[in-house]
Amino acid sequence: MLLVVSGGIAAYKCLELIRRLNEQGIKVRCILTTAGARFVTPLSLSAISGERVFGDLFSLTDESEIGHIRLSRDTDLVVVAPASADILARMAAGLANDLATAALLATDKPVLIAPAMNSRMWDHPATQANLCLLKGRGIMRVGPNQGEMAERGEAGWGRMAEPAEIFQDIVAFFGRSNRLKGLRCLVTSGPTIEPIDPVRFLANRSSGRQGHAIAAALTAMGADTTLVSGPTHLPDPTGLTTTHVETAREMLAACQAALPVDIAVCAAAVADWRPAEEADQKIKKQSSHGAPALRLVENPDILATLSAAGPKRPRLVIGFAAETQAVEENSFLKRQTKGCDWILANDVSAGSGTFGGDDNTVQLITAEGSERWPTISKQAIAERLAERIAETMGTAS
Ligand SMILES: Cc1cc2nc3c(=O)[nH]c(=O)nc-3n(C[C@H](O)[C@H](O)[C@H](O)COP(=O)(O)O)c2cc1C
Repeated sequence: MLLVVSGGIAAYKCLELIRRLNEQGIKVRCILTTAGARFVTPLSLSAISGERVFGDLFSLTDESEIGHIRLSRDTDLVVVAPASADILARMAAGLANDLATAALLATDKPVLIAPAMNSRMWDHPATQANLCLLKGRGIMRVGPNQGEMAERGEAGWGRMAEPAEIFQDIVAFFGRSNRLKGLRCLVTSGPTIEPIDPVRFLANRSSGRQGHAIAAALTAMGADTTLVSGPTHLPDPTGLTTTHVETAREMLAACQAALPVDIAVCAAAVADWRPAEEADQKIKKQSSHGAPALRLVENPDILATLSAAGPKRPRLVIGFAAETQAVEENSFLKRQTKGCDWILANDVSAGSGTFGGDDNTVQLITAEGSERWPTISKQAIAERLAERIAETMGTAS
């Protein structure tokens, strides 16, 4: 494991964290930022980890022996603890102006951050916006906690999670991270857009947040994941392959190209219909003719096609049903007509806040019946679904 120690009062706590990890047989290699070295010495870190500590991006020996790229990839997990407000901002901006941030930018491995800062720094909109961005990229977080600050008389959110809590998350990660190893997953996400002419299209309100979170959760469990995404504003999650498409037909072709897979999760909101004709030129407004008639034709059904893919059918095919009424009845029916194994049904009626929101309320519909999940974040739904998939595939620990 690679531990990045940045400059905060809580840096001393990482010694306790390393000790616990070593006791568990988890080898820890450290990168210490320049500011971090003002709070904890390289000597203490190397004495406790039994490993050389890295700090300088331009150290020739480091570059010739290992280099920042290899350092960031010869690991299963990168943990940033403490994660200062400064390093979070640099990660969010994609800066690589020291060894720590260069390694964080170059890594293809999951990243866990343990933020630690004064509560005003934590509450600042800039910090919150950075965290939002990092979360969208699939970066995991532990803490911070609420409590007394290092500054006397101040209290609030911003205390780094205790070493025991960070340790637990790391151990849980290593437990989880092998559960879907060796399995290939395909996830679709976002809307499709269907062109009317070169400037206009039919679309829907899907943000892609649920599908992207599922792809990230499956990857975090070790699955070899392909994400096929319609146009969204989300960054590509790390550690997986993302194929960008626009139309339903392109999405189907990308899904078929990804086969064979063991598991397919169709979370994209695929347009049911598309304009029968796509005009080569922008359709002109002609007041004498009124509005043009829009004739629609059916799009291919990706969920049904994958469910009937013969020898290439994934062992587990999961669809989403976005309903605005009779959610359960319609979803039961959808599971049967599409031939998929599970349906995650959600209510997308006006006021449900599902499209674009943080939370979701779903019902899992299987051959055995239906199960209502509480309203939880899309991330939590993704993790819960990934757990269920691991149980069903017989890979649960
Ligand atoms: C005494 C002292 C304590 C600090 N504690 C924190 C802290 O807990 N969290 C934080 O985000 N920044 C803290 N800072 C500021 C960071 O050290 C500073 O932003 C630095 O540039 C971080 O660099 P790094 O992210 O490369 O480690 C502290 C600074 C000083 C002087």
